[in-house]
Formats: sequence, C-alpha cells, structure tokens
Amino acid sequence: MSHHSNVIKAPFLGLPLLKAIQADPLAAATRLQHQCGDVAELDILFRRIVYFFAPEAVRKILVDHHDDFEREARLLRIFESFQGRNVLTTEGADWERQRRLLTPAFSPKRMCGYMALMQAAIDHCVGQELPADSGQSTSIDVDAFTTRITMDVILRTLFSHASSREETRQASVAIRALSRQSMREVYWALVPPAWFPYPGRAEKMRHLKTLRDLIAAHVDARLQRRGEGQTEADPADGDVLDMMLAAGDATARLSTQEVLDNCMLLFGAGFDTSASALTWWIGLMATHPEVMSELRTEVDAAFADNLDLAAVARLPLLNATIKEAMRIYPPSTALFTRVAKRHLEIAGTAVRKGTLVVAPIWQMHRNERYFANPESFDPGRFLPDAPPIPRGAFMPFGAGPRFCLGQQFASVEIALIAAHLVRHFELDLASGDELPQPFVDLALKPKTPMKVSFLRRNRA
Ligand code: HEM
Repeated sequence: MSHHSNVIKAPFLGLPLLKAIQADPLAAATRLQHQCGDVAELDILFRRIVYFFAPEAVRKILVDHHDDFEREARLLRIFESFQGRNVLTTEGADWERQRRLLTPAFSPKRMCGYMALMQAAIDHCVGQELPADSGQSTSIDVDAFTTRITMDVILRTLFSHASSREETRQASVAIRALSRQSMREVYWALVPPAWFPYPGRAEKMRHLKTLRDLIAAHVDARLQRRGEGQTEADPADGDVLDMMLAAGDATARLSTQEVLDNCMLLFGAGFDTSASALTWWIGLMATHPEVMSELRTEVDAAFADNLDLAAVARLPLLNATIKEAMRIYPPSTALFTRVAKRHLEIAGTAVRKGTLVVAPIWQMHRNERYFANPESFDPGRFLPDAPPIPRGAFMPFGAGPRFCLGQQFASVEIALIAAHLVRHFELDLASGDELPQPFVDLALKPKTPMKVSFLRRNRA
C-alpha cells in the first residue's frame, strides 16, 4: 500500500494552502487531485487533512465505516451558532432521535400531499415573475427567480404560508449574508465565543434576528392555535410543521426549541440548494436547445394525458436532465467532511484518529473513470436504459445514515418547477453559450449574474 507520493508538502504550517482552499475550494481540490491522484494528504496547522477523490473510498467513509467517523465538532459549533441544535448540527443519540422524528415528514408518501402546495407556489411565483401572454418574453436574473420560487415552496410546505415578494427578498438577503459569514468562520483558526465581538458579528446577529422572527412567528401562531384546540383533523393532510408537532410519543418528542431550530435549518437547507440546482438546470437547458426540444415532447405528452403531478415528477428524460445538471453542478459541494474517531485504513491509506477527511463531490462527479467526457452535458447517462452509474460515483445528496433528509422533497420540487418551465417557456441565455463560472457560496452559485430570457410559448 503506497502512501509515499500522496503527501503534499505545505510550508508555513499550511497557511498559504488554507488560504488557497478558502479562496477557491473547487480549483484548490482539483489541483490537489492533479498532483496526487486518488488521495491527497496535507497538514494544515498540525492537522492532517485527507482528500479522497475515488468514489469507492468516499462510500467506505460515509456508508461502511460511518460509525468510525463523525462530523467535525468545530463545524457543528459554527452551524449551531446560526441554527441552534437540530438534525444537522447534532451527533449521536440526539441526532438519532431528531432524525427519526423528522423522517415521516419527508417520506415518499408525504410528497403527494406536498405536491399541491408546491404547484400552488409555482403558479403563484411564475405568475408574478414571468410574462403571461404567449409571444412575450422577459430577461431575468435566474438565481433571484429560483430563490423566489423555492423559498415560496418551502414556506408553503413548512408553514402553509404564501409568501410575498418583499418577504422572500428580505429573507434571501439575510440568508446570503449568513451563508457568507458561515463560510468565513469555517476558516478561522478558533471558533469565537458567542459574546466575543468578532468580525461580522453585529451583522450576523441582525440577519439572524430577521430569520428567527420570521420562523418564530409561524411556530408561535401554530402552537397557539393548537393550544386553543384547533388541531388539524389529520396531520397527514397538513404541512411539515404539523408533522413535526405530531411526531413522537410519550418517550420521545421534539421540544419547542428543537422544533424552532429544525425549522431554521429546513427553511435554509430547504430552498438554497434547490434554488442552486434549478439555476444550473435552467442555464444548461438554455444552452442545449436540442435537449430542451426533446424534453418538451415528453412533458407536453404527459400534460396532454392527465394532470397527475406524481407522474410528471417521474418523467425519465426530465429526471435525467435534472440529475445530469446536479452531476456537473452539485449544489452542495462545500464542507462535506468527516473526522476519524479512531485509527483505520481507507482504500489503502492509513487514517489516524482526528484526521479530517474530505469528500470532494465536484471532482468525484467529474471522474473520467465513471463519466466519459465529464464536462459535457449528456442526460443520456441517467436514462433508464443507460448502464447503471457505479455506486458512489454520483452523490449530490450524500450517502449513508446522514444522507439528505430532503432528497425526495427536493427531487419532486425541482421536477415540478422544471416541468412547468418546459411546458410554458422557451429559454435563451442572454450572454451566448457560456454559462457563468460557479463559486461556493455555501450552495454552488453563479459567480456573475446568469441572465436568461423566458419567452412564453403558444398554448400547446
Ligand atoms: C438539490 C437539493 C439538495 C441537495 C443537493 C442537498 C444535499 C445534501 C447533502 C449532500 C447532505 C449531507 C451532508 C453530509 O452528509 O455532510 C444533506 C443533508 C441534509 N439535507 Fe439536503 N440537499 C438538498 C435539499 C434539501 C431540502 C429541500 C431539505 C429539506 C426540506 C434538505 C434537508 C437536509 C437535512 C435536514 C440534512 C441533514 C441530515 C442529517 O444530518 O441527518 N435538503 N443535504
């Protein structure tokens, strides 16, 4: 087993390398991969960090050896300072209980109930943001549009609340500022105590208050209604908050604080990644008219037959385009790390206790061993008759016990929004064929604004 050539010499305690990773984590990891191949080991501030670029190794960490790894404690503390103690920021028994209590709210069965709420959000936001008459077109900032629509989806499904434009605008300003601040804090050598006047603290507190007030108003109103005996007849008809409040039994429940903290998480996690996925999907469709026209045939036929949203969400080419967009532009690439709880060996590399291991999704999704011409957009890779994708080679939602709780939710939501856009609009990238460069803004976002013109189709 060779470890010799995988260790990167990082002078000055690795600080220049840390700076390079912070400035551009995607490019930095790609450079490490070119230097080292499947495994890159480096030391930053006396800490061993190992990048595993091979999907088999990443699956070993996340799935087979999940018990031998944990989330990095300082990362959890940073996230906790933003969101409190929820299913993302806890470990061990606390996490297990929260995950178990939240899972029913995100089961495939529940999705059917949420689809009507999602479709209402789509109709509402498209009506506000895009032209209503056939032949009319508007050029819009794609990420602002996808953020508006996915935020309305999460507010309707979490709280049965139809949001206004102003409300989602304010919340997205707060979320962007908080995402940037959390990415900054991740690279600090120390996690400052909550009271310490660290850079950005005053702004962070102000934006957090905006979000907490928004979330708390919904939770308080619901608790009050329930206190007055006006409970839903059947929580199975309700929203995510109803499911959370009804979850559990005498032995295990979510406390009111836990309900609030998980709402903070689900609100943020629930739209930012989906918005990112949709932004890149729209960009790719706007630059691949031949795929768009095939997709139009599939979607128009589905809507001609019936208006069964569940069937729309399962359309093969539609889903293949969405998966392929998430392969090339994985919405959640940052901070996908674990810490080893004991000494062990992963794919021939010795991993010592305390080592930080990194799962570099961006590079995994571009591995030529598994994806021929990895940079090219080819939804055929994900069609049902294509050879199956090897396990671990494609994991936009993670893997193992801590895989994304919202995977079904996001998949259905993205499919419904995408189908609606295909059915009603033709897309054209304002700046020609070149999509903006991506950058890691917690979620993967366009570095410069992505402008696309939406032309309302003639009614099919
Ligand atoms: C395209 C959209 C999405 C992507 C790509 C995505 C990706 C991910 C990934 C990679 C993880 C695992 C991180 C790790 O293991 O370190 C994760 C966890 C999580 N996601 Fe998502 N996510 C998406 C949408 C959503 C939505 C819509 C929700 C909720 C409504 C959600 C809720 C969560 C939660 C609660 C966790 C933590 C699970 C745990 O630690 O047990 N996500 N997501």
